[in-house]
Amino acid sequence: MTLRPAHRLDRIPPYVFAALAARIRALEAQGMDVIRLDIGSPDLPPANFIIEALAAAAQRPDVHGYPSYTGTPALRQAIAAYYGRRYGVSLHPDHEVLPLIGSKEGIVNLTVAWLDAGDLALVPDPGYPVYQMAALIAGGDAYSVPLRAENDFLPDLDAIPVEVAQRARLLWLNYPNNPTGATADLAFFEKAVAFVRHYEILLCHDAPYCDVTFDGYRAPSLLSVPGARDVAIEFNSLSKSHNMAGWRVGMAVGNPTAIKALTLIKSNADSGIFTAIQEAAIAALTGDQSWLQARNAIYQARRDLVLAGLAAAGIQVEAPKAGLYVWAHVPSGFTAADFATLLLEKTGVSLTPGSAFGAHGEGFVRVSLGMETERIREAMGRVGAFRW
Ligand code: MLT
Repeated sequence: MTLRPAHRLDRIPPYVFAALAARIRALEAQGMDVIRLDIGSPDLPPANFIIEALAAAAQRPDVHGYPSYTGTPALRQAIAAYYGRRYGVSLHPDHEVLPLIGSKEGIVNLTVAWLDAGDLALVPDPGYPVYQMAALIAGGDAYSVPLRAENDFLPDLDAIPVEVAQRARLLWLNYPNNPTGATADLAFFEKAVAFVRHYEILLCHDAPYCDVTFDGYRAPSLLSVPGARDVAIEFNSLSKSHNMAGWRVGMAVGNPTAIKALTLIKSNADSGIFTAIQEAAIAALTGDQSWLQARNAIYQARRDLVLAGLAAAGIQVEAPKAGLYVWAHVPSGFTAADFATLLLEKTGVSLTPGSAFGAHGEGFVRVSLGMETERIREAMGRVGAFRW
């Protein structure tokens, strides 16, 4: 007898950071001191009051059973309150808000809820690989929409062929952008809303970096565009905004039909977020937010350290206004993968090759700021001393 998984897995490569982690473990086993500037996993903890809220809630006897499939009413209200305060967007906590076990599962489950076999998702390239993989998991297909430097890493929606747009059921956007660090303004979001309205596509905006911003920049929510909730859903997460990546708590907000479809898939596929984590998420969203400014100042200083270090090494970079990453040009003569491999093997500095985010990421590497400042300084020293 031969056991085999579904044929759809033939189109799905190992997750980029899972593959990289395995390679890094092998190098560490040989004694190499690897500095991981690849994955965007915040090294700093959340504020103490959030950890205390988790600890206090975990002591309660009533939090250990199955949680609610749609999150507690208090968490949905806290999310709605956060959107009201932070973006001026008013949401109905019962129909327009759904807590998630991190936004990654929401991205996959929404895609499963929305695509039939052969349907198309329009995905940014370069982009977070999960948008494309979710389409393949759902039995659909993904069409890459290029993000080019000359267009400020915004998609040229008018360049999408009409027959492709007519087949598409989802359009993914992500600003502040991973991996390029680009930002989008409301005028661009208005254009995207008009585009999806014309083609009857669900617009999905992934917005986990909105609260990681520099130099006074404030990122908008797509839902600020009038009428956006008729055609759009926004994903958000406490992973980056509140340093809670390992806690797995996020949210989908916006179009009630999309929220309902996502709820149907999720309630059949998972059993919700541990109630004590929901309590901590409420504290994070409704408590004092001033610590985020100090946290962003740390990221901004790291960004500047990386910009200076790479520029001194002769690597071309531009300063991002937001997000957790610096998007840097690969020196001429290298592919992104070859350069990242060379740096990893010769210096122990691990960056993500831009090609891991799609064909249009070729020629770039992504540098994560989610690492202790002194380790980033050391990494820049190693890169500066290396001759390629
Ligand atoms: C990244 O791009 O590094 C991610 O945010 C980490 C992940 O979700 O796998």
